[in-house]
Amino acid sequence: MQDILVERNEQWVEITINRPDKLNAIREQTASEILQVIEEAEADRSCRAILIRGLDKAFCTGVDTSEFKQDPEEIFELWRRRKRSRKVNQMFRALPDVTKPVLAIVEGYALGGGFELAMLCDLIVAGEGAQFGLPESKLGLMPGAAGTQTLPRLIGKPLAKEMMWTGRRLSAQEALAMRIVNHVAEKGKAIDAGRELARKIAANAPLSVMFCKQAIERGTNVSLSEGMNIEADSFFSLAFSTDKEEGLAAFRDKRPPNFTGR
Ligand code: COA
Repeated sequence: MQDILVERNEQWVEITINRPDKLNAIREQTASEILQVIEEAEADRSCRAILIRGLDKAFCTGVDTSEFKQDPEEIFELWRRRKRSRKVNQMFRALPDVTKPVLAIVEGYALGGGFELAMLCDLIVAGEGAQFGLPESKLGLMPGAAGTQTLPRLIGKPLAKEMMWTGRRLSAQEALAMRIVNHVAEKGKAIDAGRELARKIAANAPLSVMFCKQAIERGTNVSLSEGMNIEADSFFSLAFSTDKEEGLAAFRDKRPPNFTGR
């Protein structure tokens, strides 16, 4: 790997974006490497979560601006590339579909695509000093990794518009108050808080965790009745799992469960 560090820790995998010279801006190579690790984590039954983190100064400052250069002859090829072959777009698209919990651990800047990356993860743990913003309008661009969709869903339209139009950055505490982040830890300690969360998730039945995520993702924008159908189907599927038997038996026997993800 050139742009990321990968570490297996207890029952999860930790991806560290590692481009200090570019404040962790992501390029095609970075996205391709992250996609590869996600694919491996999906195939690894013993891996129960994915943590994505950055460096102390920056989680990620967005897509590497040098990759926005275009051949004027091929301007409309951009549309096809973004849709079909560009790894950065494939990575952003892949995140909501990952079947395992993905936690963003944010210290320092989470700007542009970096903030969008964090919002496409399942939850965010931030260190004091983290800053969140979508400054693309300052560059004549606009959010291109679902920011116009994810941010208003989290904080409502007026504030989302203000952030995109003015480039206003939110502090970790502001992001906590707006429910963008789940937890704020001491500066430099977000990873510890994130690992603690991953440990708690990993102790529970993986299929339950997976189906909860799926029901929430699939059910958010449908009618309540349709959402209840989605939940009911997942609930029914769990009836066939051995972990359900194990969970109930452990509760009965007053012992910790030993879940296997089956
Ligand atoms: N793409 C490419 N390079 C980036 C980058 C990005 N998104 N963000 C930072 N860098 C690079 C800088 O160009 C600089 O490289 P250089 O030393 O070769 O010139 C290096 O990272 C350090 O950044 P610098 O701006 O000198 O650090 P700073 O502490 O003064 O400012 C930021 C930090 C995050 C405020 C500033 O880098 C910034 O505004 N970055 C762009 C954020 C953005 O607009 N993202 C959306 C992109 S679509």
